[in-house]
Amino acid sequence: MNKFFSVDDIPNLSEAVKEALALKANPNANEDLGKHKTLGLVFLNPSLRTRLSTQKAAMNLGMNVMVMNMDKDGWALETQDGVVMNGTTVEHIREAAAVMGEYCDILGLRSFPKLKDRKEDYSEDLFSKFMKYCAVPVVSLESATRHPLQSLTDLITIVEHWNKPGKPKVVLTWAPHVKALPQAVPNSFAEWMCRAQEEGLLDFTVVQPEGYQLAKEFTEGATISTNLKESLQDADFVYVKNWSSYEDYGKVYPIEEDWMMDNKKLKLTNDAKVMHCLPVRRDLELSSEILDGPNSLVIKEASNRVWAAQVVIKRMLENLKK
Ligand code: CP
Repeated sequence: MNKFFSVDDIPNLSEAVKEALALKANPNANEDLGKHKTLGLVFLNPSLRTRLSTQKAAMNLGMNVMVMNMDKDGWALETQDGVVMNGTTVEHIREAAAVMGEYCDILGLRSFPKLKDRKEDYSEDLFSKFMKYCAVPVVSLESATRHPLQSLTDLITIVEHWNKPGKPKVVLTWAPHVKALPQAVPNSFAEWMCRAQEEGLLDFTVVQPEGYQLAKEFTEGATISTNLKESLQDADFVYVKNWSSYEDYGKVYPIEEDWMMDNKKLKLTNDAKVMHCLPVRRDLELSSEILDGPNSLVIKEASNRVWAAQVVIKRMLENLKK
């Protein structure tokens, strides 16, 4: 593997989950694999879980880790080609990425969308250029349209907590928020769950209010609904997340109906486990009673971020040695 950007970079999801759970059982089994190799983590936006879990995964593999907060400590980046750089940007991504590639064997990049221009965000121009110019394998730490380390984690968590016969019903539900948030987490979750459904691992439903439908390319094969109560019936896992509109790009509409996940709605489910990528706005997206109760998987889910990162970095290191 020399890039990890979407579900297409993992040929078989069941095998990846199995490998991740084996790493969880024996975290230091490959502690020499990354000896004398360096992972560089580049953040253009804030992070708690992605930053720490990816560092921890790399340390379990014996790697050295360097972290660069480009938003605070780096030069202002120019990403467009053919511009005279006589404005506020100081360094072009061509040089910045190439230099970081000289110092590191593997790089990770986090960059959020601007949520102004859908075409620009969905082109993933920044991420593509970074991968092109750094010339080493790149792990997405979340890009404009996807968050694959989170989605692999979510699949690991679902498989790990499903111990009944048959397939679980997994429901992704929109939740309220005060800000316009990217579609990266729900896009990515949908993309991974649709692939897991194809592999026969689960059944997948997306439910959101009118106007919040995700891009079709991420939800193909899913049951899509605007009826929350109906969708929650018989759910085994409920994944709660806010996102802004894809159609009316980046916009947030006032929603009259109550979409916050709480114990009353949980009663409609098959005693579902409740997931969220975090950070979560308590009693806005998800009730405190759920977050502090027995159905919440959010901490176990965040803990599994290490094993998702470790399986990806391990595969990249194995590829470097070939
Ligand atoms: N879920 C997640 O990616 O968390 P951070 O933004 O804190 O990394």
